[in-house]
Amino acid sequence: MINLRSFAGQPLTCTRMCFLVNCLKRLKSSQQWLSRQNADPYVEKAKIHNYRCRSAFKLLEMNEKTNILTPGLTVVDLGSCPGSWTQVAVQKTNADGADPTKPRGKVLSIDKLQTFPIEGATIVNHMDFSTIEAHDKVVELLNGKMVDLVLSDMAPSATGVRELDKDRIIGLCYMAIRFAALVTKVDGNLLFKVWDGKEVPILEMDLERFYKSIKILKPQASRSESSEKFILARGFKGIQRPLQNGRWEN
Ligand SMILES: C[S@@+](CC[C@H](N)C(=O)[O-])C[C@H]1O[C@@H](n2cnc3c(N)ncnc32)[C@H](O)[C@@H]1O
Repeated sequence: MINLRSFAGQPLTCTRMCFLVNCLKRLKSSQQWLSRQNADPYVEKAKIHNYRCRSAFKLLEMNEKTNILTPGLTVVDLGSCPGSWTQVAVQKTNADGADPTKPRGKVLSIDKLQTFPIEGATIVNHMDFSTIEAHDKVVELLNGKMVDLVLSDMAPSATGVRELDKDRIIGLCYMAIRFAALVTKVDGNLLFKVWDGKEVPILEMDLERFYKSIKILKPQASRSESSEKFILARGFKGIQRPLQNGRWEN
């Protein structure tokens, strides 16, 4: 029972009251999160198949429909932590060389948090992808190799202010698009997460300039109450890239 005049021996000022209300709200939403996790079949399935989180099934399902991940491909995974998309990318591209009869792929993952090691993947930890240093690091690790597929499951930490959160994820999407334009092979692909809203048709229009086809995907493993969707842009048309000697390359 909360005493409305004082809390923890201190008089209940407006600030303390707001703090208390926020704590109660957080407690309620963590309880909802826990019961949703317990009832979620993908959480159990992820444990059985040794994936780091249920998101693995979103990528597996999208790959089932589109076949974007095949042995031998070079893949960059943006926003990789805890690592389930990287695990799927390594398996499907044979980046760990598990199948010696198939070509061996390459997977490079980056996150501002720490993704613990995954055999077959090169992981860049504690790097914010919005910085030039992060782009330079990934380009350096690619060592001149062009990329077949850029994945981005990057999502900002929610502030709770809907419009602000949406703006931030759109910022991340454009970052992924710009990066993909610089490193992707002609005919390569880009798959990224977005939250549904009026910005999505604008994103699609922008992508049409650089890719042959655009598709919106909502895998079953993505919770129906979540506004997340994935945009798959296929067949990169290529851009003119400046060469160091001042000429241009396609
Ligand atoms: C939904 S999680 C990714 C889950 C991952 N695909 C998996 O399957 O394990 C989103 C990730 O995006 C990362 N992220 C968000 N903004 C970022 C940024 N600017 N630079 C790097 N990582 C970022 C977060 O740290 C978070 O780990």
